[in-house]
Amino acid sequence: MDYKTRTRIARILVDDAVAVDSDVTVLGLARTVRRSKGVAFVDVNDGSCFGNLQAVFAPPENFPVLEKILTGAAVRVRGKLVRSQGKGQEYELAADSIDLVGETDASYPLQKKRHSFEFLREIAHLRPRTNTFGAVNRIRSKLSYAIHKFYQERGFYYIHTPLITTSDAEGAGDLFRVTTLDVKNLPMKDGEIDWTSDFFNDQAYLAVSGQLEGEALAIALGDIYTFGPTFRAENSNTSRHASEFWMIEPEMAWAEQEDNWDLAEEFLKFLFTYALEECKDEMDFFGQWIDKEARQTLESVIKADFERISYTEAIKILEASGEKFEYPVEWGCNLQSEHERYITEKALKKPAIVYDYPEAIKAFYMYLNDDGKTVRAMDVLVPRVGEIIGGSQREHRLDVLEERIRKMNPDHMESYSWYLDLRRYGTRPHAGFGLGFERVLMYITGMANIRDVATFPRVPGWAKF
Ligand code: 4AD
Ligand code: MG
Repeated sequence: MDYKTRTRIARILVDDAVAVDSDVTVLGLARTVRRSKGVAFVDVNDGSCFGNLQAVFAPPENFPVLEKILTGAAVRVRGKLVRSQGKGQEYELAADSIDLVGETDASYPLQKKRHSFEFLREIAHLRPRTNTFGAVNRIRSKLSYAIHKFYQERGFYYIHTPLITTSDAEGAGDLFRVTTLDVKNLPMKDGEIDWTSDFFNDQAYLAVSGQLEGEALAIALGDIYTFGPTFRAENSNTSRHASEFWMIEPEMAWAEQEDNWDLAEEFLKFLFTYALEECKDEMDFFGQWIDKEARQTLESVIKADFERISYTEAIKILEASGEKFEYPVEWGCNLQSEHERYITEKALKKPAIVYDYPEAIKAFYMYLNDDGKTVRAMDVLVPRVGEIIGGSQREHRLDVLEERIRKMNPDHMESYSWYLDLRRYGTRPHAGFGLGFERVLMYITGMANIRDVATFPRVPGWAKF
């Protein structure tokens, strides 16, 4: 069969690039098959865009194969593109022929009705064929492109950091172990597991972040960014945590914390603007079916200046709120999602950049302020999603960094020795952050659960497909 001569449905319905009366061939899935007197209709969707192309068969008796075409079958339809006389579509295909390429049967789970997201997660291999997940996956692709566009246009180099590593980049210990040892028969030495006989002669993990290696590259190349998968073994069963997620991590070699704030705000606004301008069909769909405010939310955030407040100010806002929080608030506490949401949704009603967190609750690599109590961390918080970005100015002073590691992660001193080299040889102020790609997709689309913006989600208890 000649597949090359096919026309993508997006060329017809989105680009409006195919002239009426042209002979076209479309290849796709039959979404619905309907019959009325003297005519039959098959709605074909090929995934290239949201819309279906309606193929019209008259009289249906001339197309006996129609009897065997059920919802979900793969078909090839040839015919002439005509203006539609029916409502709801501009064009349709006056079909000359239809071939059944891939059969299906009545057990096909995606019959034409609304399915719950919970049900669709169980069939993550089929859900990309639905309107919602088609739109999610298309916008995921378009925003991936936007991310590269943003950084490439600003002279940042795209670098690749290892996924298997012996460093704990966050020092938080939420690591998936990588090993080839026989877990039923572990090699022991002096009563401990002998990791020197493991594959990498050492304990190895899946990377929680590419930041530390990213810093090495930033110091060499100037400004860099990563965009890749990261893995966290936190046992958090929430709508915003995944065990595997994609992160964008820019790192700027000559930068302090204000530069970080500015880049984070500019980057988010760029992505929101891109979604509104370049992903119109998807945004219309999300606005209609998922979150009526999707568009207005992004428009208002693009216009707003993000509020920049210190952690200490954030605590004051929370203390003065009179709210009964599940987790009590006092200076030194971690901001929980309920606190983050109060700040952005109720107190400020816009995104906030919170900086200067207590050193004890943040990672070892953050720049220690002169007060000795706070570090130049920054979290960007947005309504509904909470933390969307986490970052910091890095501790670039060798002695201070050594002291922080000794205090917070003494067992890691040796494995961080290469990281300390970056301070031994040609150190300089630098800063960066990480944006969770699924979190930003949740924010843009209005989808409420990270399991529904990840293509094949991995969460505690679930790594199917
Ligand atoms: O705040 P985090 O842990 O920061 C880092 O990993 C730094 N190394 C980044 C850097 O400075 N280069 O993670 C950054 C972002 C969070 O703000 C959040 O958006 C996302 O990654 N994130 C998650 N997304 C989904 N599921 C999880 N379990 C996530 N953990 C973090
Ligand atoms: Mg964080």
